[in-house]
Amino acid sequence: MFRLGYVAAGFLALIAVIMGAADSPSVAAYYSSFESRIGYWLLLGNTRHCGLYEKGALSPFPITKAQRKMEEKLYTRLGLGSGKLLDASAGSGYVAMYMAFKGFDVQAIDITPHHLQDARKNVKANGLESKVAVDYGDYHNLTSFAPEPFDGIYTMETFVHADNPEKVLSNFYRLLKPGGVLGLHEADFSRNSEKLQDVLRLSHCQNTLEEGGYERLLSKGGFNEYSIEDLTDEVLPMWRLFGIVGYVPYQIFKVFGIENRFINVMAGVEVWLNWGNGRYISVRAIKP
Ligand SMILES: C[S@@+](CC[C@H](N)C(=O)[O-])C[C@H]1O[C@@H](n2cnc3c(N)ncnc32)[C@H](O)[C@@H]1O
Ligand SMILES: *[C@@H]1O[C@H](CO)[C@@H](O)[C@H](O)[C@H]1NC(C)=O
Repeated sequence: MFRLGYVAAGFLALIAVIMGAADSPSVAAYYSSFESRIGYWLLLGNTRHCGLYEKGALSPFPITKAQRKMEEKLYTRLGLGSGKLLDASAGSGYVAMYMAFKGFDVQAIDITPHHLQDARKNVKANGLESKVAVDYGDYHNLTSFAPEPFDGIYTMETFVHADNPEKVLSNFYRLLKPGGVLGLHEADFSRNSEKLQDVLRLSHCQNTLEEGGYERLLSKGGFNEYSIEDLTDEVLPMWRLFGIVGYVPYQIFKVFGIENRFINVMAGVEVWLNWGNGRYISVRAIKP
């Protein structure tokens, strides 16, 4: 038994050394790490967003079904019948494909090369090439688009990564038609604990705002008409799962001082332990 423990620990230390770790990784470095790739693939089938559950639900399974529920929620919040959407950070394309199946034409962008590859493959496999365009694009710089082509723009757990949220919002504003709808499904760590600061830095989530930050940001950006729904209780089952699954490995990593190299394990456990130091919100804003 002990020998097995040594072998496991040695193996983990070896992985940690191979992986290395930057203190403030870029978005691409975070998503390209061995741990992120394995984790998102194994636990979430590369759909990189939370599931939506009934309040008080205990079981996170089946996760895919809950993730479709979250996509449905975003769709309902947008409240648009049809038209052209910008998916501002598509990941592997699952949200964009959901919207395409609902009848929208979707322009999907992302900055992580292997996500773009994956999204293109998935779009093709689902025969949606005529409904979903997948292109490289950084939401800080959307100058290649003419003004006002979109009826709706959304982010599914991507705006948190913004280095300059004001800039990103003003880009979205420029690209929306008057009366167009902006939907943001994002974590809002407005009541940060110190430990969560590490988590946020290591997963390149710089967009952490002070209490009421989203409200101010939206008003400043000209989105005077908006509503914010708090979905924190409805995403808990998935984070509880991450917290429980990651707990023991995380304690072992801490003994060896290598927890920073397993940022997703750290995030899963720390967010769960510090539940209440942040919220999960659904923002719906309209361009006047
Ligand atoms: C948590 S994943 C969500 C992906 C997808 N929306 C989903 O739900 O599966 C965040 C995504 O944001 C992308 N991203 C981060 N910063 C970006 C930027 N500046 N411009 C475009 N995409 C960005 C990342 O590459 C990653 O694919
Ligand atoms: C913005 O993107 C365009 C191409 O779409 C590029 O030519 C330009 O250099 C970029 N600007 C910045 C500041 O990165």
